[in-house]
Amino acid sequence: MVNWGIVGAGGISSRFVADLKVLIANPAGPNKIKHTIGAVASTQIEKAEKFINEFIGDGYGTKAVGYDEVINDPSIDVLYIGLPHTLHAPFVVRAIEEGKKNILCEKPITINARELEDILAAAKKHNVFFMEAMWSRYFPTFLELQKKLYDDKVIGDIKKVQCTFNTDSKEFPITPEHRAANKKLGGGALLDIGIYPITYARTFLDPSADPTKDWSISSELIMESLTGNKADEVDFVASAIFNDKTRKQQASISASFHTESDGNIVSIEGTLGRAYVKAIGDTPSPQGYKIVLKDGSVIEKDFFADLNGGEGFWYEAVEVGEVLAKGGKQSELMSWDESRKIMWVLDTIRKQNDFFYEQDQ
Ligand SMILES: NC(=O)c1ccc[n+]([C@@H]2O[C@H](COP(=O)([O-])OP(=O)(O)OC[C@H]3O[C@@H](n4cnc5c(N)ncnc54)[C@H](OP(=O)(O)O)[C@@H]3O)[C@@H](O)[C@H]2O)c1
Repeated sequence: MVNWGIVGAGGISSRFVADLKVLIANPAGPNKIKHTIGAVASTQIEKAEKFINEFIGDGYGTKAVGYDEVINDPSIDVLYIGLPHTLHAPFVVRAIEEGKKNILCEKPITINARELEDILAAAKKHNVFFMEAMWSRYFPTFLELQKKLYDDKVIGDIKKVQCTFNTDSKEFPITPEHRAANKKLGGGALLDIGIYPITYARTFLDPSADPTKDWSISSELIMESLTGNKADEVDFVASAIFNDKTRKQQASISASFHTESDGNIVSIEGTLGRAYVKAIGDTPSPQGYKIVLKDGSVIEKDFFADLNGGEGFWYEAVEVGEVLAKGGKQSELMSWDESRKIMWVLDTIRKQNDFFYEQDQ
């Protein structure tokens, strides 16, 4: 049994608990481990109560609590962190140091590599589980396509990956109040959504490469501010090329806060054909793939029904349960070292463009 404590009664936490309910109703994974939602922690108890009423409901025994209480509650097995990026490191380090808590923390894991090392040092010292919630990596589409491309070599040698992910929709508008446009909360397209194309490039370029050694990176950011103040500028468009000269592979990635994605976010070119990842609506969640070979044959697969009516956040929750049950401290698919590599890419792009947050001082 995994008893979750949800930290932050905001947008992503509401989507994560909706998916935990899907998992509770449809136990999944090799050991069909049971999950419960023990507590929701907020800066204000009334906000946590409202969140429970609106998104969880009766019958789950979920308590509305404050941050201190959830950190120190021995009945909570793992904390899900749905706070703005700038609060990830301070909160997670405290939760590990004070409460020896296991952690699943939203992406981007921290603002920079230095903050990530603080978390990893605490997790190592207190021997707790820690994982970055890069949910896309746990989708069956991702796992099956990666196997098809690298084990079965269905499209031959992979040469190029192209991935674009944008957001600014009716549902998720980028407004001056939104944390994504707020530099003090780690705003900017690169950290918020650019991390998805980087993840796709990382997964569909040869995963045995080490970006810190094998990739040369060139990048450009376009800075904008919705307040009109230069000091508030964050990147609204982020683009980069990753070049692996040894493996003769290249990825071009981009992210923007100006439109919403339409489901066609990734294409992968190989010597025998091309593969597309189909995402769900304007999200980066991979829902299926289509492979078009040069000989005209097409292989297509849709995993939509597997979602059981959820968005797919429950796949990463399954992984947390499975690893915890084995006494593991990290997930193989999103290991501590993998988070380090992704953070290195994000830091490199920001340094190339002289874009720094307070946390970089
Ligand atoms: N995996 C995904 O698909 C996905 C999607 C969206 C967001 N995210 C990630 O999830 C994290 C949260 O994003 P979100 O969109 O859920 O943000 P959000 O809606 O603004 O919620 C963040 C929550 O953090 C808490 N908080 C505590 N101190 C805060 C402060 N000083 N300013 C603002 N909020 C504060 C608030 O909850 P309480 O007051 O209740 O504590 C707030 O509701 C981000 O790191 C983001 O990258 C991931």
